[in-house]
Amino acid sequence: MFQNVAVKRLDAINIISLASDMKNEEVLANQHRELDGVTTAKIKGLLEERARGKPLAYITKKREFFSEEFYVDERVLIPRPETELLVEEGLKIMGGAVDRIRHILDMGTGSGAIGAVIAKKTRKEVLCVDISIEALRVAQYNARRLNVSGKTGFLCSDLFNGLRESVKFDMVIANLPYVAADEWDGLMEDVRRFEPKTALLGGREGTEIYERFIEGLPGHLAEGGHVLCEIGGSAQAAIIGKRLMAKGFTVISKRDLSGIERVLIGTWTRSS
Ligand SMILES: C[S@@+](CC[C@H](N)C(=O)[O-])C[C@H]1O[C@@H](n2cnc3c(N)ncnc32)[C@H](O)[C@@H]1O
Repeated sequence: MFQNVAVKRLDAINIISLASDMKNEEVLANQHRELDGVTTAKIKGLLEERARGKPLAYITKKREFFSEEFYVDERVLIPRPETELLVEEGLKIMGGAVDRIRHILDMGTGSGAIGAVIAKKTRKEVLCVDISIEALRVAQYNARRLNVSGKTGFLCSDLFNGLRESVKFDMVIANLPYVAADEWDGLMEDVRRFEPKTALLGGREGTEIYERFIEGLPGHLAEGGHVLCEIGGSAQAAIIGKRLMAKGFTVISKRDLSGIERVLIGTWTRSS
């Protein structure tokens, strides 16, 4: 049996805004205006959904990421604020190598948040790959919303399996599932019940998908290319970092605002 969650005031305001087709500021500025019966019933239904644990982003069907609004629903993971670090680091590297970095791959694109932001900011071409065809439909829709359809491609593939070896990228950005099996029960109930399990679980240690990814990586990276991986802490940084080094990458790690090792950046200096 699931427990009801406490609905935060801000969630309630967002729900009222959605049901009455107003901005939050308009709702707050019109607090004494009466609601009609249809809107009241809609608000009640949505508040009940939230109280049953459905994440607000799946109710409002939107989430902000890197100051852009993305459409989200249960087919995709809700983009997380810590993933902005991955994008920031990618953009930093690209800023210093504008001409050299031309072909970019967003592996495990989900809602397309990473790929679409990079395409929009850099006007470079980004191939967005995911194993889930349903997620790719959402990613494609978001690319249209951000006006980057002409700069983005979409491929349904288990990691690199759907790509020819001749296709090389200058940068691969990956936010693949990295939750370890024994961490699953510790995740928030909203996450466990509503977000796609295939977007979260990364096997026993959380590194299984990344380990397979690294096996295929050298075949698809240009000499001197970069890989950026979002990870979940120092134990994973050690396991994944070691695998990358064994393939000839020099590796550095970046911590997020909570001090957790969150991004590994690998530069491919030599073939092993
Ligand atoms: C943690 S989510 C990241 C979603 C999005 N990139 C973001 O940052 O919000 C991981 C994504 O990887 C995809 N995925 C899982 N296993 C995969 C595989 N073997 N090959 C390609 N994509 C995979 C999932 O479907 C999911 O969309």
